[in-house]
Amino acid sequence: MSPLSLYIHWPYCSRICPYCDFNVTRDRQQASQRPLFEAILADMRRQADGLGPRHLASVFFGGGTPSLLPPDWVGELIDQAKQLFPYTDDIEITLEANPTDAEIARFAGFRAAGVNRLSLGVQSLNDDTLAFLGRNHSAASAIAGIETAQSVFGRVSLDLIYALPGQTPDAWEEELRRAAALGVEHISPYQLTIEQTTAFGRAVRRGQWSPPKADLAEDFYFRTLAVLQSLGFEAYEVSNHACGPSARSAHNVKIWEGVDYMGIGPGAHGRLTRDGVRHATVALSDLRAYTAAENPIESAMLTADEAEEEALMLGLRLTEGVALSRLPSLPIQEKAAPLIEQGFMELSAGRLRATPAGRVVLDRLLLELLS
Ligand SMILES: C[S@@+](CC[C@H](N)C(=O)[O-])C[C@H]1O[C@@H](n2cnc3c(N)ncnc32)[C@H](O)[C@@H]1O
Ligand code: SF4
Repeated sequence: MSPLSLYIHWPYCSRICPYCDFNVTRDRQQASQRPLFEAILADMRRQADGLGPRHLASVFFGGGTPSLLPPDWVGELIDQAKQLFPYTDDIEITLEANPTDAEIARFAGFRAAGVNRLSLGVQSLNDDTLAFLGRNHSAASAIAGIETAQSVFGRVSLDLIYALPGQTPDAWEEELRRAAALGVEHISPYQLTIEQTTAFGRAVRRGQWSPPKADLAEDFYFRTLAVLQSLGFEAYEVSNHACGPSARSAHNVKIWEGVDYMGIGPGAHGRLTRDGVRHATVALSDLRAYTAAENPIESAMLTADEAEEEALMLGLRLTEGVALSRLPSLPIQEKAAPLIEQGFMELSAGRLRATPAGRVVLDRLLLELLS
C-alpha cells in the first residue's frame, strides 16, 4: 500500500505578522468557524474517494495558526483521517502552535486528541525582536510554551527567524545557543524573507530599513550550521536541524522525498498519484469560496518532466540529496559537472547533493541545473 501524508491548513491567526505571506486571515471571532471546519472534513473525504488503498504516513496541521483550533476539532480531523486510511500507532502527527498563554493551555488537549509532535513558532527569544516581528507573545511566554510542550509532547521543534536588520551573527549565535539549551530535539531557523506583498515588503520598498546584504546573510547561514552542529544537531535539510534521525520531521522528509500528500484547507497544495499519474492539487484560497464550493480542489496532471524537475528541487533541499534514479530523463550529470567542480555539489553512490556552500545558493544552482 503506498504511503499518503496529510497537510491540513487552518488559516486563522490572532494577528497577521508583518513578514508573513501565507494564506492567513485575522481571527476576529465574529463569525462561526464551524462551517469552514466542516468543509475541511468534507474535503478530506472527497479527496480520499477513489484514491485506492493508502497507508496514512503522517499528518501535519499547519497554518495560519492551528493551535487556535479547539482540541476536540483537532481530534475530529485525526479520527476522520484514521477512519479513511489504515495507519500504525507510531504515526507522526504534528501541529504548529504559537506560544501565547491561551494556546499553551490547550497543549494537553491536543495531546489527548492524538497530536504527538509540536512545532512552536518562537521566532525569537528577545522581546525587542518579537515586537519588531509583530508577535503577540513575549520571550518569557515562548520559554514557558517550550517547557510545557516538552512535558506534554516530548517531541518539540522551534521555529526561529534570523538575519534581521541590525542583527549581528554574534547576537544570533547567542540566541541560537539559548534556544538549543532549552532541550528541544529539532530547530528550524529561517532567514527572514522579505515578501513583496507584506508590511515588511512595503517598509523595505519605502527605504525604512533594509535586510542584511547577501554576503552577511551567508555568514548567518554558515554560523547557524556551525553552532548547531557543535551542539549535536545535524542539518538534514536547508533550514532544518535535528538531534539524530529519529528527531527529523518525518512528515516534511516524506514531502521532500516525493511521497504523495493530500492538501486540505483553504489554499493548501497537494500531490496525489491517481492511475499512475502524479497530480498537483490546490484548494481555493478564499475562505468563503472554499466553504461554499461543492469541490474546492483544482487538480492538474504533472508531465513526467515536471515531476522530475520537482523531485530535483525538493530532493536537493535534503542534505542526503536526490537519487539520480528519480531523474531518468533530465541531463543532470552534464549540467551538474561545473557545479561539482566549483564545490557547490557532490555526486556519489548514485545521489546528487548540494554541499553547504551550495545549499546557501540553492535557487541559483537549480536555475543552472534546469536551464
Ligand atoms: C506560516 S508560519 C505558521 C506557524 C505559526 N503560525 C507561527 O507563526 O508560529 C510557519 C513559519 O514560517 C516562518 N516564516 C513565515 N514567514 C516568514 C518569512 N517571511 N521569513 C522567514 N520565516 C518566515 C516562521 O518562522 C513561522 O514559524
Ligand atoms: S507567521 Fe504565523 S501567526 Fe504570523 S501571520 Fe503567519 S501564520 Fe499567522
